[in-house]
Amino acid sequence: SLKVVIIGGGSSYTPEILEGLIQRQPTFPVSEIVLVDVEEGREKVETICQLGNRMIEEAKVNIKLTWTLDRRSALQGADFVSTQIRVGGLAARAQDERIPLKHGLIGQETNGAGGIMKAFRTIPVLMEVAEEVNELCPDAWMINFTNPAGMVTEALLNHSAHKKVIGVCNIPFNMRHSTAELLQVPPEDVLIRFIGLNHFVFGDRVYVDGKDRTEDVFQKLIQKEFDYSPANIMPLDWSETFIKSTKLLPNPYHQYYFQSETVLEKDLKAYEENGTRAEIVQELEASLFELYKQESLREKPEELEKRGGAFYSQVACSLMDSIYNNKEDIQTVNTWNHGTIPELPYDAVIEANCVITKNGPKPITIGKIPAPMRGMIQNMKAMEELVIKASISGDYEDAYNAFLVNPLIQDEKKAKVVLDELIEAHKDYLPQF
Ligand code: G6P
Ligand code: MN
Repeated sequence: SLKVVIIGGGSSYTPEILEGLIQRQPTFPVSEIVLVDVEEGREKVETICQLGNRMIEEAKVNIKLTWTLDRRSALQGADFVSTQIRVGGLAARAQDERIPLKHGLIGQETNGAGGIMKAFRTIPVLMEVAEEVNELCPDAWMINFTNPAGMVTEALLNHSAHKKVIGVCNIPFNMRHSTAELLQVPPEDVLIRFIGLNHFVFGDRVYVDGKDRTEDVFQKLIQKEFDYSPANIMPLDWSETFIKSTKLLPNPYHQYYFQSETVLEKDLKAYEENGTRAEIVQELEASLFELYKQESLREKPEELEKRGGAFYSQVACSLMDSIYNNKEDIQTVNTWNHGTIPELPYDAVIEANCVITKNGPKPITIGKIPAPMRGMIQNMKAMEELVIKASISGDYEDAYNAFLVNPLIQDEKKAKVVLDELIEAHKDYLPQF
């Protein structure tokens, strides 16, 4: 019998992971789930807990589901701890998106200046959680969804005492599933070879049942029959030249880097019309919670699929299941490089295909980074390293360096203006600065 603790249990995404845990009961026998949140999330976590208990009743499974604001007591005896928090809530996200846009930079929650600020707010809090996990349930695996997931995972692995940390994201999962749909084959048969970093990962080969189908996928991409953008990113096309030259399958976030002007234009327009993504999500959340409160609702509602992170729970649950059962299947997660990509630091965290064992993920070596992206990926990793350093030190110069190295900022004067404005806007959540 297993105990799972969900930090940030009041998230509107939680019914998804609860559904996943309920469905996996036969192979992953969870007997206790504790939802943890902070005072501001009290009402939300209570609502989720009530809905969760109705889902459990409906499914006729035996799981004790409770909620608490006392993280330390919740962690006692945990086997898995999933972290899905948003420091400063959606209001802080709105600032991350709005302030860079105001200065003509891309405003996005995990990329550019916004993504860096999210790391600054988040890393110190999760470091604290990791220390508590290490003290109170040292054998537990921490499954981190909190964005920027790659950087957070690297910060925890390299700067906290707890070493059983894995970072996850739904993007590789989405890419695999849409590729399966496109080729009309079951998703289990599809293997995309991934190389890179979280929200900066490329596919370089696509195999179906061991057969190389990369060219077919590229053709469909060129013919624009292919869209794997999550709800939070507008679908743009990739040119034939880009695909044929790089021979890489980009992920939706790559638009910010390789179609910057177009994205900026569209984002500015979308912002004027509907507000930033954070504001759209605020409305979405409000209506989701109205639904969650209805006694008649006894399952995860479909509306949840309008969130960009939809299906994240399948990633989390498959991962926990494979660790627990030592399945040794392949999943794409964020873990230590340890030589897998020779051109990146040994202790860097990468997003890679891994064999999932009871001792954690073992990344599969695929060789060097394809030349067109080598510099970009190294640069992004250097930027991440600087972000982590600044998140911990609270040193202004460290933070400025991170801004400067980020390809979506770069301009030395803008870097300062935007950094200053963001630090001021978020000062309540940046005690280290
Ligand atoms: C993606 C990313 C997640 C992110 C989500 C945002 O799918 O992989 O890391 O949290 O989208 O979605 P939202 O609905 O909050 O804009
Ligand atoms: Mn993600």
